[in-house]
Amino acid sequence: MQMKPDKNIQVARTQLELRQCIQAAKTQGRSIGLVPTMGALHEGHLSLVRAAQRECDFVVVTIFVNPTQFAPHEDLDKYPRTFDEDLDALSELAVDLVFAPDQEELYPHGFSTYVLPPAVAAPLEGQYRPEHFRGVATIVLKLFNLIPAGIAFFGQKDYQQCQVICHMVKDFNIPIEIQVCPIVREADGLAMSSRNRYLSPEDRLRALALSKALDAAVAGFRQGIRDCSTISGYMDQILRQAGVTEIEYATVADASTLQPIGCIERRSVALIAARVGTTRLIDNALLVPE
Ligand code: PAJ
Repeated sequence: MQMKPDKNIQVARTQLELRQCIQAAKTQGRSIGLVPTMGALHEGHLSLVRAAQRECDFVVVTIFVNPTQFAPHEDLDKYPRTFDEDLDALSELAVDLVFAPDQEELYPHGFSTYVLPPAVAAPLEGQYRPEHFRGVATIVLKLFNLIPAGIAFFGQKDYQQCQVICHMVKDFNIPIEIQVCPIVREADGLAMSSRNRYLSPEDRLRALALSKALDAAVAGFRQGIRDCSTISGYMDQILRQAGVTEIEYATVADASTLQPIGCIERRSVALIAARVGTTRLIDNALLVPE
């Protein structure tokens, strides 16, 4: 295990180092909180860390750009890697342990077992990124096995991912609690994302249409509109008016199954995925009837 001398933070690079640190924490009877990330940390990630610190004695943050959740044509190579800055941010928060393995450590030669993700993975992101949740479920299960946490923290920003993980935990009887934390936004409303840095100034402005469209969906819902095609129509219009035309979906779904619905009768969620320039963005807002 490495104690970064200039950073004052413990970093485990291998499973062995990780096990030693975890063992020590368990011997001390400390409750473990887990925050899985792919690095390039921003306030959204750090809000999960703070939530974990409020509830757990020993917080482990993982930094691993998981190759199995990227399709061959996606941005694995281009995905931002800012390890030094990430460690600075985490040491400032006095995180107990960072697990940052290399690819070989988690996917050694001969790796071939994958999780078949739950049904909730099929619509929406599943339509546009068919292998994505297989990779997410696989790496998250591996992390749950490596780090015996009582609670794992995920962001509502990736709403469908949270549902995939919750269903997997239930279906596989994994003894861990999943806590879903609120979306952290920039002052103007744009949901924070590691990919926002790729937006040109013009695209950054256009990207605001996603949160504006969701605001309109929530406003319509609060005024009593329950018809989903009306709400989707509002979102579509706001996106297009802002010049966001490459819309993959702007829709309302059941909050638990993510299946499309015609009318909001139970807890539902408005979700958008759109390409702004070359950057794919997602965002969502819950619509919860009284
Ligand atoms: P990553 O995109 O790095 O996100 C790590 C965690 O931070 C996820 O739970 C995500 O939902 C949360 N997060 C991202 N942006 C957020 C925001 N603006 N507000 C609140 N939370 C936010 O999601 C992944 O990595 C990977 O799929 C992972 C789960 C680590 C598996 O590889």
